[in-house]
Parts: sequence; structure tokens; C-alpha cells
Amino acid sequence: MATEKKVTAIKNTPKHLLGIQNLSVLEAKEILTEAKFFIKLNRGSSKKLDVLRGKTQINLFFEPSTRTQSSFDLAGKRLGADVMTMNMSNSALKKGETLIDTAMTLNAMHPDIIVIRHQDSGAPNLLSQKVNCTVINAGDGRREHPTQALLDALTIINRKGNIEGLKIAICGDILHSRVARSNIYLMNMLGAEVNVIAPKTLMPRGIDNLGVKSFTDMKKGLDGCDIVMMLRLQNERMQGSFLPSKREYYEFFGLTPEKLKFAKKDALLMHPGPMNRGVEIDTKLADDINVSLVKEQVELGVAVRMACLKLYCK
Ligand code: NCD
Repeated sequence: MATEKKVTAIKNTPKHLLGIQNLSVLEAKEILTEAKFFIKLNRGSSKKLDVLRGKTQINLFFEPSTRTQSSFDLAGKRLGADVMTMNMSNSALKKGETLIDTAMTLNAMHPDIIVIRHQDSGAPNLLSQKVNCTVINAGDGRREHPTQALLDALTIINRKGNIEGLKIAICGDILHSRVARSNIYLMNMLGAEVNVIAPKTLMPRGIDNLGVKSFTDMKKGLDGCDIVMMLRLQNERMQGSFLPSKREYYEFFGLTPEKLKFAKKDALLMHPGPMNRGVEIDTKLADDINVSLVKEQVELGVAVRMACLKLYCK
């Protein structure tokens, strides 16, 4: 007797989530649909499932993280996995071990999923070639941060119903931001129009080739936008001086209630965190529950990561 098989977009593709660039529209939509179920679960009183019971998840964080690390940690635990989170600043790396040696050591312990955040662009891809388990990218250098873009998409869909046809502005340090890159790919893929706004020194060359319109003026860039995503200055990735001063940056590129008026009347504000209040964003605006989706982004982040862990861990 033929057994009925559930056909999903993700089943037959490589079992790693390395970036939005490698994702199809179907796969992205499947993750978002699955995540909607977990939003409800996470709001209930009993949050634990056994979908990943018996599985071992290792979170390898080579860069500081609050939101992403705790979110992956909770997501794995709520799905019933055994989760080990390693702060790699205390690891053998300090003693000169390479990423590959670390990977081989951990691989010998038979993990089912490795979640990695690393300062080098491409580190998760390299890791995925060396281990036998699922690798999920939790942010690599300035390249990609796929689960951040997916949680941003879910937050927008939750509020606006859809992404198709929306106009989304991404403002700030586009040059050094993996969040910007992943969001440009995903929002374009889901049918939004994307504007990027940054000072000339923080705008990557050739950005228009990614299907966005680029602006160095907030007034023009925010015109008609439904969503305004603000980004932190990624000082840790800057060598040399990119800006005259933080004060001047705030003057021209910091989001204030006055500048938000350049966008649509019902425009909503997003920020991946951590926020630098008074640098890229006005502190009252950041907390204004009528416009700011920041807390919702954190909440839905857990749901998106649960969906990714479930769909990618076989
Ligand atoms: C972002 C990151 O690490 O890329 N933060 C996050 O994951 N929530 C953005 C940032 O650090 O500014």
C-alpha cells in the first residue's frame, strides 16, 4: 500500500539554512507559514513540544549576541531538543584552534543541528561542508542573517497582512549590515519595493544591482514608505572613520518623529536591536507602542527560529 507523503518545499533541498539568497520563494513562505503556528503556541501556557526530542542542538556564538542567542536557545528547548549554547570567547579558539578543528571536535559528538554566528562572512558555509548535521546561520560577518529577515517578514505580515506591494525603507549602516542584505533579498522576493538610505560612506557600491533604490536623503528615501527599518552603526566592522561625528549622523540620519512624517501616515518602525538611542533613533520613538514593532520582532523571532529548526532538522 502506498504511504502518503507530505510534500514540502524544504524536504528535498540541502538541509542547511545559510542565507536568504539560497532560498526559494516557496521555502521562505513555508517557513513563515510554519512560524505562524508557533506564535500561537508561544503565547499559550504550555509551550513545550517534542518535535526535536532526542536531537542535539549546539549554538556556537563567536560574536556577542543577546536576542539571537537566547531566541535560538528557547526555540530549541521549546521543541524538545537538548540544547548546548557555547560562548566561543571562552573556547579553545583562544588557544589557537581553527574553526574547522572546532567543527570537527563538535561533529564527533554527533550533534543534529549547529547554529553558528561568526564574524567572518562565509563561516557557516565552510562549516556546513565539514560536518554531518544541519547548519543554521545566525549571522556571518556582513553577509547574511537569514532568520532576522524571516522574523522581520513575519512581523510585517502579522501587522500589514502581506508584504507584496509594500514600500520598505532600510536606513543606516547598509555597508556593514548583514540584516540589510538578508532583508533586501527577502523583501524583494516577497514582492516589496525596497529603498535603502545611508550616507555615501556607508552605502555599498553597486547596491542598485540588488534591485533597490538608494538614497542619501531621508526625506526622499522615506517618501511613501509603509515600513521604516533602522540599523545600528556597526562600529565593530569599521576600520577607520566613516562619519564626521555621531551627533551629525543623528542630525541627518537618526529617525525622529519629524523625519518619520516623511513616510506614510500609518508607517511602522522596526529595528533588529541592539538600539543605540540618540544615534540612529530617537529614544521616545523607539518605545512608542503606536509605531514601534521592536518588541514584536523579538517575540516572533522565537517562532521563526522554531520553524527553521523544525523544517531543517531531519
Ligand atoms: C543584528 C546582528 O547581529 O547582525 N542584531 C541581531 O541579530 N538582533 C544587528 C546588529 O548587531 O546591529
